[in-house]
Amino acid sequence: RGKLIKLNRLRSAGAGQRGVSMENKKKRIFSGIQPSGELTLGSYMGAIKNWVALQEEYDCVYCIVDMHAITVRQVPGDLRRRALEQLAQYLACGLDPRKSILFIQSHVPQHAELSWVLSCYTQFGELSRMTQFKQKSQQHADNITSGLFTYPVLMAADILLYQTDLVPVGEDQRQHVELCRDIAQRFNGVYSDTFVLPEAFIQRVDQGARVMSLGNPLNKMSKSDPEGCVNLMDSPEVIQRKFKRAVTDSETCVRYDKENKPGVSNLLTIYSAATGKSLEEAQEIFAGQGYGVFKPAVGDAVIELLRPIREEAARLIKDKAHLESVYREGARRAGRVAQRTLDKVHRKVGFIAR
Ligand code: TYM
Repeated sequence: RGKLIKLNRLRSAGAGQRGVSMENKKKRIFSGIQPSGELTLGSYMGAIKNWVALQEEYDCVYCIVDMHAITVRQVPGDLRRRALEQLAQYLACGLDPRKSILFIQSHVPQHAELSWVLSCYTQFGELSRMTQFKQKSQQHADNITSGLFTYPVLMAADILLYQTDLVPVGEDQRQHVELCRDIAQRFNGVYSDTFVLPEAFIQRVDQGARVMSLGNPLNKMSKSDPEGCVNLMDSPEVIQRKFKRAVTDSETCVRYDKENKPGVSNLLTIYSAATGKSLEEAQEIFAGQGYGVFKPAVGDAVIELLRPIREEAARLIKDKAHLESVYREGARRAGRVAQRTLDKVHRKVGFIAR
């Protein structure tokens, strides 16, 4: 009888709802991107490409994190437009609402609710050490809000609400995922097992874990640096212009050497991630060629990679009814899973059930 009760508990904990038998329960994946700018080649190679592949084998939840975006000032109309465009681009990249849950963070209020509880289990010192906070508070020195500071707690809530096993992100987000794990471990230690401990799931370096800026290859490619950054929706002409202007070095040899040739190494990585060829193959292809051949060839590879995505996204953005049905259904499904975790957390910390 004890066994049966345990089995029923496990079922109600979610295995049944995930649509798979308990013997081979799929692992849960969660990730998100801020609609604070256009989607970039960096976020595609570092994150979305991986997300698409993972849908086949995992139980995936992908989010548009608009609540994170307002940690720095946004123009409301632009934020709304970009959130919808981002959904169209997720679909165009191959995310499939029949396989994965796709939703908008502010539509699932459990994220904000769990975030408050977790903030009471996160140390001020831990948040002060976050690299992204240090960088962003320099960039936005006139507007360092408490939201910018507690950003990683909201991110921990995103991940922990879904009992996530793996978080596919670019290298720059590793520190946040590690903090999330520390918070989960602390909470579990105080109240017994409540959260699954998540792990960052990071792409191989030659497949785009950290795509660098074309203008300054010592910085990561980011939406806040328009010239060094390729957007998913850039036209072929714009993409080609950005690659032709990419910063390289005074040698003329196409060779991977991250220390001494960061620009060329970044372009080789992008070529390799865009074509699926290894870094060795890429170096062989361009052996003996000058940068005048190499740079436009990388541009062409990226144009071909992004062309179908751009065309499909442009088609999808016109179909507002379809996009609405995807994000509504996504929020409904996400909310169900999230509420289960939130109920458990509220019970454990001592709140009276509603
Ligand atoms: P965000 O919106 O800055 O970036 C989205 C994703 O793209 C990856 N990325 C890159 N990867 C390689 N090279 C680059 N140049 C590059 N630029 C961006 C990022 O690592 C990220 O995976 N805090 C997150 C959003 C977030 C989140 C979450 C992620 C909120 N809640 C929960 C995972 C789970 C962020 O700011 O990503």
